[in-house]
Amino acid sequence: MAVPFVEDWDLVQTLGEGAYGEVQLAVNKRTEEAVAVKIVDMKRAADCPENIKKEICINKMLHHASIVKFYGHRREGNIQYLFLEYCSGGELFDRIEPDVGMPEQDAHKFFHQLLAGVEYLHSIGITHRDIKPENLLLDERDKLKISDFGLATVFKHNGRERLLNKMCGTLPYVAPELIKRKEFHAEPVDIWSCGIVLTAMLAGELPWDQPNECCQEYCDWKEKKHYLPPWKKIDSAALAFLTKILTDNPSFRTTIPEIKKDRWYLKTAKKDVKRSRVASGGPPDSAAGFAKHIRSDMDLSPMTNALSEDRIRYSSTQPEPRTALSSWDPSHSCIDTLVQGISFSQPVCPDHMLLNSQLLGTPGTSQNPWHRLVKRLTRFFTKLDADRSYSSLKDVCENMGYTWKRSCANQMTVSTTDRRNNKLIFKVNLVEMDQKILVDFRLSKGDGLEFKRHFLKIKGKLSDIVSSHKNPLPAT
Ligand code: ADE
Repeated sequence: MAVPFVEDWDLVQTLGEGAYGEVQLAVNKRTEEAVAVKIVDMKRAADCPENIKKEICINKMLHHASIVKFYGHRREGNIQYLFLEYCSGGELFDRIEPDVGMPEQDAHKFFHQLLAGVEYLHSIGITHRDIKPENLLLDERDKLKISDFGLATVFKHNGRERLLNKMCGTLPYVAPELIKRKEFHAEPVDIWSCGIVLTAMLAGELPWDQPNECCQEYCDWKEKKHYLPPWKKIDSAALAFLTKILTDNPSFRTTIPEIKKDRWYLKTAKKDVKRSRVASGGPPDSAAGFAKHIRSDMDLSPMTNALSEDRIRYSSTQPEPRTALSSWDPSHSCIDTLVQGISFSQPVCPDHMLLNSQLLGTPGTSQNPWHRLVKRLTRFFTKLDADRSYSSLKDVCENMGYTWKRSCANQMTVSTTDRRNNKLIFKVNLVEMDQKILVDFRLSKGDGLEFKRHFLKIKGKLSDIVSSHKNPLPAT
């Protein structure tokens, strides 16, 4: 499958899906440069043409090491293509072990990179409005990149700040004033969501479904019941830091300049870095134990239901982009920087597999297929061939009461509902790699933590066919 307008590029696999459309990995046939292509069908939502224009406009303004690079865009009929830096390290979300988190040093490093990105955004008057681990990607060197500016907006222009009034974001990550107040400042809302991300990194769970008085966990936090999870898992300096960020009243909440003076924030990394189990290996062996404490029974989908419209129209106040690329230019030098250290994911469908295996033989490509995998945890190898693996998987899905269908030769689409009765849809691909079958799960719709829980249940039920061969990870 070729990108219709650039013959030299192959769309080799789906990186993500959402209400807007999907993100595909595009690989240049000749140079093997990789870019992420966000494909937005503007027919899908009435306000979409405006939203996508705004997303493009904002992307053009952004130039920072902690922000996914924007290379350009192209429109073909009703479809908009946005060309973005490919982050082969996957989502920060996948580095968080449910109920555990990640080593504090890793969390500390990621938080620094996140804050640098947010500080930059605020300095140019942009607020992201949907900061969460799913929107924080990692490149091949594990550098964090803020992604998805679909909900971003301008809150400051020519030094003049405007208050926001639109309810958007993802409930567990939104600040309390967004629920309580008609108007609020933009910056404290992004800072709050960074605090929730940090909590998730340090404890492997989200503290509440939403920050309002109806939510017991939020009331417990306000009453300083730090002996309860997730707080009891967090060390005192980090907890003191979180207390300043997760302050209910936005006027008293800590600011970026204050954050940069905080004791935990300034803590220097110890030499003896404990390696992240999540980043350097597969999921723990005891699937049941691993899943037991995950609190994921909430709706994690972004809310975009505006209570009232943003009053200032973005397009009319938008400053000129500094180095805007108005159309896709595959020879642009930005792309060259992506070539080094790129590892590709396995294909979604067998025809994609063909493209990838063809690539394997081309000069300059890693000859080792394991190096082409992104760091994701939701997969395992089996001891069986493809047909028998598929049939075991099908039996487990039937036993677990899932609805499933064969979506293409080696792919199954599974639908179920999670604990909160929200829809959960994921795809399972069976990919042959080095004469072994890799069973790879990918979330299509629903809550990411709940998806991990279901993955672990399935993996547990298939334990007799799961190979001890470790989850392959690229040695980048
Ligand atoms: N998923 C969504 N956007 C992505 C990107 N830029 N790189 C990798 N995966 C992604």
